[in-house]
Amino acid sequence: MKILVLGGGGREHAIALKLSQATPPPELLFAPGNPGMAALGTCVPLAADDIPAVLDLARRETVDLTVVGPEIPLVKGVVDAFQAAGLAIFGPTAAAARLEGSKAFSKDFMARYGIPTAAYQTFTALEPARAFLEKTGAPVVVKASGLAAGKGAVVCTTMAEAREALDSMLGPDAIFGEAGREVVIEEFMDGEEASVFAVCDGDRYVLLPAAQDHKRAYDGDKGPNTGGMGAYAPAPLMTPARLDQVCREVVEPTLAGMRAEGCPYAGVLYVGVMVTAQGPKVVEFNCRLGDPETQCVLPLYDGDLADLFLKAATGRIAASASPAPNGAAAVVVIASGGYPGSYRNGFPIAGIEEAEALPGVQVLHAGTRIKQPDGVLATAGGRVLGVTGRGATLKQALDIAYMGVSKIRFDGMHFRTDIGKKGLAAG
Ligand code: AMP
Ligand code: GLY
Repeated sequence: MKILVLGGGGREHAIALKLSQATPPPELLFAPGNPGMAALGTCVPLAADDIPAVLDLARRETVDLTVVGPEIPLVKGVVDAFQAAGLAIFGPTAAAARLEGSKAFSKDFMARYGIPTAAYQTFTALEPARAFLEKTGAPVVVKASGLAAGKGAVVCTTMAEAREALDSMLGPDAIFGEAGREVVIEEFMDGEEASVFAVCDGDRYVLLPAAQDHKRAYDGDKGPNTGGMGAYAPAPLMTPARLDQVCREVVEPTLAGMRAEGCPYAGVLYVGVMVTAQGPKVVEFNCRLGDPETQCVLPLYDGDLADLFLKAATGRIAASASPAPNGAAAVVVIASGGYPGSYRNGFPIAGIEEAEALPGVQVLHAGTRIKQPDGVLATAGGRVLGVTGRGATLKQALDIAYMGVSKIRFDGMHFRTDIGKKGLAAG
């Protein structure tokens, strides 16, 4: 089997690693991949969202299955293009990916099917939005409807913040451009968050272990929001009863609703869940796996991932299931000094081999590159590496991950020291 993976971050490295562990191992191609993934297959220097180029690659290489990591190619219609060409691809069509690509669509969809989520209204003009805001008061959440690289949701504790967020999106500055021309103003939900992943074939699904991400830059959930500084799975917050509730109240009605609307959902349905006093509610849908959650979720899946993705891509999942996770895993992200603000690239990275010599440790590349002419591995991004630890318990997985982290060195590196603490307290 020949598989093409689109993307080149930590999530895609984790997908590639899991795919490579099948017997017999598939032949792997990556567009564009990264220096870590290069050890598992062939990296082709194409952007993941250059749809004509990746389609041409898949055809030329007679790829059996393409797996899409990031949301942008999905929202741009990579799945539609491959399907039109008769090629198997795992991910939702552009119409189905609107669940992530348009928060206005996804909120209206949830309202149509009674899926529990925060109360909201959608606006395209500043004046009525302002008037609504004055009526609702703070705390409140102001969100750009379109894709904004994870920066489009502003949780506002004061009215001043809320007015500013609204003005920045719908006012003359339009800081998110097109993505912020439509704005969702949403009720603030109080609670703990978790990420739930369902691998769907349009009709049935296989649930992966639920994870908890750590979005803030510093320990104690302090500092600015990031792409995610670490994660662990399974998250004790998502008890079997709550997971079951999310399946019945969210995943199943979403699959049924998307089918009824003529855009069946095949691919990963990522449910961002807030566990509130009234039970689990949807914070957002994403149309792909999470980063860094994937790095701790996939090691716990015991089956053949290529087979699962192929079945999902071709509508052949036998029956919906929630397999029990095998042990626990945690990932600690090591970031460049200054991230998520400005940072410098190009610092040599040492210690990866030492880290991976420890049992249970995997180092996943996110922002690295090979510096020429000397061929040295160097930093090339905000989130540089993810160190995954796997163990029988969450405590073991965390200890193993942090042992791995202790071996890695580069100038300015920073990481959180409290990944998984909440999970330990809850478990
Ligand atoms: P989103 O882009 O919609 O996932 O939002 C990003 C983050 O903002 C979420 O992970 C939450 O931490 C927070 N958030 C979004 N919506 C709400 C809400 N209605 N209530 C509380 N927090 C929220
Ligand atoms: N970890 C958050 C995300 O992938 O959107």
